[in-house]
Amino acid sequence: MKRVDDFRLRLGKHELVPIMIGGMGVDISTADLALEAARLGGVGHISDAMIKTVTDRRYKTKFVKEKLALYKYNAENEDKSPVKFDLGKIAEATRLHVASTMERKQGSGLVFVNCMEKLTMNAPKETLKVRMTAALDAGIDGITLAAGLHLGSFALIEDHPRFRDAKLGIIVSSVRALQLFLKKSARTNRLPDYIVVEGPLAGGHLGFGLDWAQYDLATIVAEVIKYLQDEHLDIPVIPAGGIFTGSDAAGFLEAGAAAVQVATRFTVAKECGLPEKVQQEYFKASEEDIEVNLISPTGYPMRMLKGSPAIGDGIRPNCEAYGYLLDANGKCAYVTAYNREVAAHPGARKVSVMDKTCLCTHMRNFDLWTCGQLTYRLKDTTYKLADGSYQILSAEHIFKDYQFSTDQKLALPEQQPA
Ligand SMILES: Cc1cc2nc3c(=O)[nH]c(=O)nc-3n(C[C@H](O)[C@H](O)[C@H](O)COP(=O)(O)O)c2cc1C
Repeated sequence: MKRVDDFRLRLGKHELVPIMIGGMGVDISTADLALEAARLGGVGHISDAMIKTVTDRRYKTKFVKEKLALYKYNAENEDKSPVKFDLGKIAEATRLHVASTMERKQGSGLVFVNCMEKLTMNAPKETLKVRMTAALDAGIDGITLAAGLHLGSFALIEDHPRFRDAKLGIIVSSVRALQLFLKKSARTNRLPDYIVVEGPLAGGHLGFGLDWAQYDLATIVAEVIKYLQDEHLDIPVIPAGGIFTGSDAAGFLEAGAAAVQVATRFTVAKECGLPEKVQQEYFKASEEDIEVNLISPTGYPMRMLKGSPAIGDGIRPNCEAYGYLLDANGKCAYVTAYNREVAAHPGARKVSVMDKTCLCTHMRNFDLWTCGQLTYRLKDTTYKLADGSYQILSAEHIFKDYQFSTDQKLALPEQQPA
C-alpha cells in the first residue's frame, strides 16, 4: 500500500505534501500551527474567527475594549441591532494577524485563512467582503470559505487584484451544495481552486443534521469526484473528517482525492491554541464523552465534549464586546434563549440556558470543547505520564506521522524523560 508521501497536491504552480491542517476557530489553529504545516511543505490554516480577540491577545491591540466602550450602554438591552462592527477595524485586525503570520512563513508550503461565513456580524455581506479583502491585501496565500457558505462570496472580491492569483477554496458536505455554489459563482468565471469535502466525523460545526451517522465521507467524496468528472471540471478534492492515520489518508489519495484535511490529531500539538488543561480533556475523552448537539446559535449541529463548561451555562450575552453571530437584523438565538430564561425566572441571580450557548464568549474562553468524533483515539497517539497526564506532541511529529506511516500505524513521539 502507498503512503501519503507518494502523492503530491498541485495547486497552480505549487507542489505540496497533500496534508492540509484545517482551520480551527478562535485561534485553536494558531499561526504557529499553520506555519509548521507550511514549513513541512503542506498547507496550514489560520482562522479569522473573532479576529479582534485574537489580535488583542497576540499583538496587544485593544479592539474589543474599544468596541465594548462604544456599546456598553446597550448591555442590558434585549435588542442588539445597534451593535455594529466598524469595517475599518475589522480590516485592520485582519491585516495585522495575516501579515504577522505571513512574514514568518518558511518552507515551500502555503498558509490559508479559514473564513466562516456563519459569522454574520450584524452585516453579513459587508463584513465578509472586508474580511476577505483584508486577508488578500495582507498577503494570505489562500482563503477557505467555510460553513454557512454564502453562494455569492466570490463575487464580493472579484474586483480585488489578487482575485485570480490567490487560492480560493470552499468546504461542502454534499454534491448538492457544490452544484449550488458552482452555479451561483459561474458569473465570476472563477472556479474554486480546491474543494474540501467535509464528512460527518469532523470537528466544529457540521453540514449534516442529527442523522449525521447515516452519512459516510468516502461515499460523498466518490460522488463529488464523479460529478466533477462528468462536468469535465479539474478541481482538487480534499476529504476531511475522521482521517486519523497516514493509511486512512493514503486510502483517500488512492481513491482519487488530491489531499486530505485533518484537524483533530493536531488539537494536542504544542503549537495548537488550546490551553494544555483542555488538551488533557481531549486525550482523556472516551467515545461516550463526545456528542453532537444543537446548542450553537448558528443552527448547525456541532460536535463537542459533553464536559464542556459552555453546555448549560447561562451567562449574559456579550454582544457589545463580541457579537460575531448577530444576523443581519441584530439577532442571535442565544440572546433569545437567554432572555426567555430570564423572563421565566424573575429575580434569579443566574439562569441556566440548556438549548443554546453564548458561542462567542465560550469559544473565546476555550470553554466549548469542540472536537472530531475520533478524539477518543488521541490517547493512542502518545504516552501516559507518571502523573496520569498525557505527553503533548509536536505538530511536526503528527504531520510526519500522516506523511510517512503505513499499515494503520501511529508513530509514538520520542518519550519525554520522566
Ligand atoms: C477543535 C476544532 C475546531 C474546528 N473549528 C473549525 C472552524 O473554525 N472552521 C471550520 O471550517 N472547521 C473547523 N473545524 C473542522 C476542521 O477544520 C476539519 O475540517 C475537520 O475537523 C477534519 O476532521 P478531523 O478533525 O477528524 O481530522 C474544527 C475542528 C476541530 C477539531
